[in-house]
Amino acid sequence: MKTYELSKILALCLAISTALCYASEETHFTVQSEFNTTATLPCVALNNSNHYTSLTWYKDSPTKEGIIRISTKLTTPVLYKYYENRTDVSLTNEGSLVLEMVNFSQAGTYKCYLAGKVGHRNNVSYVMLSVTETVSKTTPTTLNVTTEFTLYSTVPNSSVLALAVPVDLNPLSVLVGFFSLSLSKVLLCFMCVWGMTVYKKHQRNKLWS
Ligand SMILES: *[C@@H]1O[C@H](CO)[C@@H](O)[C@H](O)[C@H]1NC(C)=O
Ligand SMILES: *[C@@H]1O[C@H](CO)[C@@H](O)[C@H](O)[C@H]1NC(C)=O
Ligand SMILES: *[C@@H]1O[C@H](CO)[C@@H](O)[C@H](O)[C@H]1NC(C)=O
Ligand SMILES: *[C@@H]1O[C@H](CO)[C@@H](O)[C@H](O)[C@H]1NC(C)=O
Ligand SMILES: *[C@@H]1O[C@H](CO)[C@@H](O)[C@H](O)[C@H]1NC(C)=O
Ligand SMILES: *[C@@H]1O[C@H](CO)[C@@H](O)[C@H](O)[C@H]1NC(C)=O
Ligand SMILES: *[C@@H]1O[C@H](CO)[C@@H](O)[C@H](O)[C@H]1NC(C)=O
Repeated sequence: MKTYELSKILALCLAISTALCYASEETHFTVQSEFNTTATLPCVALNNSNHYTSLTWYKDSPTKEGIIRISTKLTTPVLYKYYENRTDVSLTNEGSLVLEMVNFSQAGTYKCYLAGKVGHRNNVSYVMLSVTETVSKTTPTTLNVTTEFTLYSTVPNSSVLALAVPVDLNPLSVLVGFFSLSLSKVLLCFMCVWGMTVYKKHQRNKLWS
């Protein structure tokens, strides 16, 4: 009887921590580019809305700054102050952000923000850019940009976002992150079980007194 209840509690804890895990893994598009190649970041929010008055790209993490903005009234995009005079930053006709010759400090999360027309909602999407080291030094003439899409369109909380963005994606830090996640799950389970045990003891004591 007791083991049955214990396993029930454990199952519940597992379900809860799995749900928590899913909530924190609301990643978005990830674009992987090799160092010194061109990265193209798609604005997924455009899939949700055609009714907008302006489209703005921001760097969201690790720093927050405006990059480039195009309004339906203007024909050419406008660069924000910090990016003015930059020739390596541009927009495609599809609203994708193009970054040429990316370096490691440009890795991070980028936000595409659509200001809705009157009567339409604003929309936003995030893309994570990770810059990897050049793999093949033997063929420097062919620039191979691998683009990986992870399909999630949920808008994450920006504080969650900051946590979810590792600056370097080396296997060790991924492993460490994985272990700390697992550890927190285990701790959560222990707390659940401990709480139930204390509660039961309390009930039993009440019964006997
Ligand atoms: C980046 O690529 C350009 C040509 O595309 C080259 O001239 C430049 O030297 C490269 N920079 C580095 C740091 O590899
Ligand atoms: C957005 O639309 C483009 C083209 O319509 C499509 O290729 C892409 O898969 C869509 N992305 C999402 C996340 O729906
Ligand atoms: C951009 O160029 C203009 C004119 O050359 C200059 O006044 C301005 O300070 C530059 N901006 C940045 C951020 O370098
Ligand atoms: C990366 O590039 C940006 C602009 O192209 C530059 O301001 C920055 O200093 C570069 N960072 C490194 C580490 O080279
Ligand atoms: C963006 O559009 C999608 C689909 O229309 C909608 O579900 C989502 O809530 C919108 N996001 C915002 C921030 O309005
Ligand atoms: C890029 O690399 C992938 C495998 O890593 C390969 O399948 C693809 O053909 C390459 N593309 C170019 C343009 O070299
Ligand atoms: C994001 O989460 C923090 C606390 O985790 C909360 O204070 C903030 O209001 C949240 N923001 C949004 C936009 O949900």
